[in-house]
Amino acid sequence: MRFEIVKSGSRIARRKVLGVALYENFTSEDLASLPSSIALLAEMFIPRENFRAKRGSVLVVPLANGEIQCVALAGLGPRESVGTDDYRLAAFNIVRTAASRGASSVSMAIPESSERLISRAIGEGAALACYRFGKYRAPDEDDRFAPPETTAVLGGDAKALSEGCTIGECQCYARDLANEPGNVINPDVLAKIANDLALEKGIKIKVFDESELAAKGMNALLSVGKGSATPPRLIHLEYAPKSPVAAAAIVGKGITFDSGGLDIKPADSMLTMKGDKTGACVALGVIKAASELKLPVSVHAIIGAAENMPGGNSYRPDDIIRAYNGRTIEINNTDAEGRVTLADTLAYACELKPDNVIDIATLTGACAVALGDTTAGLFTNDDKFGAEFLAAASTSGERFWKLPMDDENLRKKIKSPVADVVNSAGRYGGAITAAMFLENFVEKGCPWIHLDIAATDFVKEPYSYYVKGATAYGLRGIMAWLLALADADR
Ligand code: BES
Ligand code: MN
Ligand code: ZN
Repeated sequence: MRFEIVKSGSRIARRKVLGVALYENFTSEDLASLPSSIALLAEMFIPRENFRAKRGSVLVVPLANGEIQCVALAGLGPRESVGTDDYRLAAFNIVRTAASRGASSVSMAIPESSERLISRAIGEGAALACYRFGKYRAPDEDDRFAPPETTAVLGGDAKALSEGCTIGECQCYARDLANEPGNVINPDVLAKIANDLALEKGIKIKVFDESELAAKGMNALLSVGKGSATPPRLIHLEYAPKSPVAAAAIVGKGITFDSGGLDIKPADSMLTMKGDKTGACVALGVIKAASELKLPVSVHAIIGAAENMPGGNSYRPDDIIRAYNGRTIEINNTDAEGRVTLADTLAYACELKPDNVIDIATLTGACAVALGDTTAGLFTNDDKFGAEFLAAASTSGERFWKLPMDDENLRKKIKSPVADVVNSAGRYGGAITAAMFLENFVEKGCPWIHLDIAATDFVKEPYSYYVKGATAYGLRGIMAWLLALADADR
């Protein structure tokens, strides 16, 4: 999408859809960006349709003559309690109105858009509005969906708008990957997709195949993939700018399909498990965005890709596996496979000596039980890093909530009589014991955050700016943190 910054209201009138975002208790003055005859018409519709500019609401005023198709009024909610995400949602609603009508151009008059973080949010919302996963479905007869080519914004911070747009588009890239089913994306295909991205962006890449994994002693990742007809891959991309201010490693869980393995899932729980590679897709989206934004931060994206399947060669309950860092894992549930693959990939990430490691994983149903499906879990071994991340991510519109890792009685549950750790520890505190398991594979002293995006990764009923399907949750939060690192240095 192309953004154009326009300085005066009269210049935005020549678009197919004219968008205006409004606070509750708006007055006719707030419609001043519209041509006066159109503003008058809108003012007639407002009471008729009882439009009150509630958060997330939209009023479409159709126009019958001329080039302009309609006006889209988007509610921001009460001015006193407005937040960054309200602007993101309003921008989404305006651009979505245009896209669903196949309008080639749209304009947005949104208050406070000169504010950097608000402009970034508007860019994100606009890009998210252009999303749908339609490649496998013939469009309905009356379907006019087409993303607008140009978006004119009244006022606005050009750099922040385009940053936001890049972030939104990279989130859509990650959503597209996450939405692909297991018959299309297997570990080898994911590696090829990563390779294409690396070639396009001039990013370094190294892919380890099954024999290289065996030679390196990455038995944990290998074991999880043993039941599948397509063997695992470790994918390592590196975006390396000149004179970086910091280096971050993003480690993504890349289970291309999670059947549960021999501890097979019931049918209902297996549905949507194509989404179990979302962490990996987010890691790819983050490195894509970092390179497009030319961030002054080195970013490693590390993905352990495997398919968790039952079969004659599957790893089993009772197996004891030596991970890459030498620690041994007793398997008591093959469906707790994500943490087993992360054992190797986290240890590999720490070897690179980055300043920070973030892993992102659709790890536990327990996290969804604890926090619901619109908040992700955050775990850390470094409270300062955790606080910095939460502060930066607070304007991203993605919700994260820190869960504790200091319960030493709970930690006992991952003790094993035959190995260093056991891979599953029962229902109670399941998201926390999973994080405690991971900590065994993070080098001491390395600031680390674990994001559990189970359930936030996939939308069953549309909400806010998410349509059904993959969200690539966590991408905007991570980008907000990376951008804050970069900004702090400017
Ligand atoms: N991929 C699942 C977690 C998941 C659940 C993601 C729901 C998205 C939505 C993970 O591999 C898994 O199966 N976890 C088990 C762990 C248990 C066996 C300890 C779970 O959460 O039930
Ligand atoms: Mn599983
Ligand atoms: Zn899984």
